[in-house]
Amino acid sequence: MDQLKRQAAARALEEVRDGMQLGLGTGSTAKHFVELLGERVAAGLKVVGVPTSEATRADAERCGVPLTTLDEIDRLDITVDGADEIDPELNLIKGGGGALLREKIVAAASDRMIVIADDTKWVPTLGKFPLPVEVIPFGLGATRRAIEKAFAECGVSGQMAVRKDKGGHVFVTDGGHWIVDAQLGRIVNPPGLAKALSAIPGVVEHGLFIGLASSAVLAGGEGIRVIERRKPKGDQE
Ligand code: A5P
Repeated sequence: MDQLKRQAAARALEEVRDGMQLGLGTGSTAKHFVELLGERVAAGLKVVGVPTSEATRADAERCGVPLTTLDEIDRLDITVDGADEIDPELNLIKGGGGALLREKIVAAASDRMIVIADDTKWVPTLGKFPLPVEVIPFGLGATRRAIEKAFAECGVSGQMAVRKDKGGHVFVTDGGHWIVDAQLGRIVNPPGLAKALSAIPGVVEHGLFIGLASSAVLAGGEGIRVIERRKPKGDQE
């Protein structure tokens, strides 16, 4: 599996050119990309990266990838990031690693987002992977009720749980927020649910990435498949 992730990362690296400004994703697949990018930088490639988490920042520094911020530059050429699920419209569930907020900010500031994954992430319908919803701890009861109402209006339901870390403590994101994971099973209308969740006070961000991915690089036993998005970036319908 790790080999497949690395193959997908290597294929995405073929899109990187000298002088590019890159968004650097988070997770085990994106980590391969950062490592391979570091090898190219050591060989003379000139790029700068914006990391989507403190973990990726540490990886990039270790690999010698020069870093910048979205305050210093105004756009990115390509973001390369992993995903937890990818559907045929290239809608994604992200946030299994808890970095969804920065990942979405960085992807939205990029001309292109390339999703890299092993092909087990490819699904006909999103929702088997629990949907992460990043929330403000204050007023969580009210926020949870509003989330349940949004689920019902969008034709989904399922158990929700505040994410814990390995030590059993509440997981805190890089932004200081909490995550509620929702086991929805099958999300019938991802763009509709994304809009409904975004409208809730107390929801900082959610793991539905709609209209952001430009292409997906999927590595499997039979080789690599590259799937291009048919609709323009930002088209949510
Ligand atoms: C991080 O918050 C996530 O969005 C990751 O991109 C996602 O969980 C994929 O991670 P892996 O590459 O480790 O499967």
